[in-house]
Amino acid sequence: MRPYSAAVSGDAFAEFERAGWERAASRYEEYWTDTVLFVEPLLDAAGVRTGSRLVDVACGPGFVSETAAARGAQPVGVDIATAMVERARMRCPDLPFVVGESPRANGRRNASTMEACARLSSEPG
Ligand SMILES: C[S@@+](CC[C@H](N)C(=O)[O-])C[C@H]1O[C@@H](n2cnc3c(N)ncnc32)[C@H](O)[C@@H]1O
Repeated sequence: MRPYSAAVSGDAFAEFERAGWERAASRYEEYWTDTVLFVEPLLDAAGVRTGSRLVDVACGPGFVSETAAARGAQPVGVDIATAMVERARMRCPDLPFVVGESPRANGRRNASTMEACARLSSEPG
């Protein structure tokens, strides 16, 4: 899979983030599973339920998408790090995940979440 290149957009912060998460991906679930604790409250807050079409921004290994799908929602996960998307696809082979910096979902979505990602871009606003 061709890695996403934030350098194309000229966003040095995004590229810094991407490079770090590419390295961390293989050990993410070993150290970062605490984020799972927040998934249900996050989905509740976003009103995700059966039939919701959700964009799971900064999806990492797919915890939010996985839980949303268990609720009957139709998630698509988006992450800047190719290695993270590969982990998500491995963990949840029936769900869609794409490499990217912004939601590139097909069709209309009616909910979006972003868990444990403090900043998406160095662009203001
Ligand atoms: C701490 S992890 C959170 C993963 C997952 N949401 C969770 O709760 O476990 C942060 C994720 O944000 C992704 N990320 C960072 N900057 C991003 C950006 N500009 N666009 C998309 N994903 C980004 C990283 O690649 C990483 O997978």
